Amino acid sequence: MQFYLAPMEEITGYVFRNVYQKMFGDIDRYFTPFITPMQKRVLRTKDRNEVLPENNAGMHLVPQILTNDAGQFLDLAKRLGMMGYREFNLNLGCPSGTVVPKGKGAGFLDSPLRLRHFFEEVFAAEEFSGSQLKLSVKTRLGLTDADEFPDILKIYNQFPLSEVIIHARVRSDYYANHPDLGAFALAAENSVNPVCYNGDLFTAEDYLEFTRHFPAVDRVMMGRGIVKNPGLVREIITGQKITREELCRYEHELWKGYCEAYHDENNAMYKMKEVWFYLKDMYCEPEKVLRKIRKAKKPAEFRAAADMILERQELYGR
Ligand SMILES: Cc1cc2nc3c(=O)[nH]c(=O)nc-3n(C[C@H](O)[C@H](O)[C@H](O)COP(=O)(O)O)c2cc1C
Repeated sequence: MQFYLAPMEEITGYVFRNVYQKMFGDIDRYFTPFITPMQKRVLRTKDRNEVLPENNAGMHLVPQILTNDAGQFLDLAKRLGMMGYREFNLNLGCPSGTVVPKGKGAGFLDSPLRLRHFFEEVFAAEEFSGSQLKLSVKTRLGLTDADEFPDILKIYNQFPLSEVIIHARVRSDYYANHPDLGAFALAAENSVNPVCYNGDLFTAEDYLEFTRHFPAVDRVMMGRGIVKNPGLVREIITGQKITREELCRYEHELWKGYCEAYHDENNAMYKMKEVWFYLKDMYCEPEKVLRKIRKAKKPAEFRAAADMILERQELYGR
């Protein structure tokens, strides 16, 4: 099985990836949170930091691009290609109300014809037709109904995508409801390109259950599950659960990483609070943990609260 870390805007950025890679190193592919091509053809500082090779040493990183304009996609891919990237992922899943109405992210799924034109233009470019550069997609099953997917898949099947990563929900689900495993099964059966599963694999048991149903699927992407429990992939592979000491080291490394990246403890605290929103689930009393974290208004209060939790709160399932 190949394990991918899902892109999560504001969370699985380069600081997170580096800390994770150094401690666990068991992810086969990392994906950047989406990068939007800019009119002026320059990367925003934030996006540039995401892809700088020195910020991603030793990792297989795939930049994710959010656009519905093949020209802009090609321009950005070629520029990132000059930095050494060979593979790009197109975001066809973002459900945001600011993205979908523009026909991007999951909004692009609304018009399979335009999607086909997009791929035709990309694969007509020398770099992509000669397989010098590769393109994968990360897609939802549709906008409001998984019945939309067979038509969408017909389009994907016409092109040599390196993989089709399926977040098995529709846009209107956002992150609610359950992934549609029936629709995923149909997609996996009918895709001519390799398929990767994504959605709600939160525990080693979820993973095992999934592999029992889908023994032929050889790649899975996990996001929230790993942010909730950074030891999840290792636990799946070896059975060894993350220890309190490891969790403490991981959290301290993240704090150090954000402080260094932002040169500002307040910003580091805000980033850490987003991580703790997920990390709380490591504990028997997640809501109590979250309350303590949220109550902290200053970095020193935050560190005191986090360290108290890391030392004393009871870990779930131990
Ligand atoms: C806070 C947050 C930010 C996300 N940002 C992105 C993103 O930038 N690009 C993307 O393709 N998906 C993004 N996603 C979706 C995840 O990559 C993933 O598809 C989704 O969380 C389902 O997988 P999971 O259940 O393993 O978390 C985001 C999800 C969350 C919760």
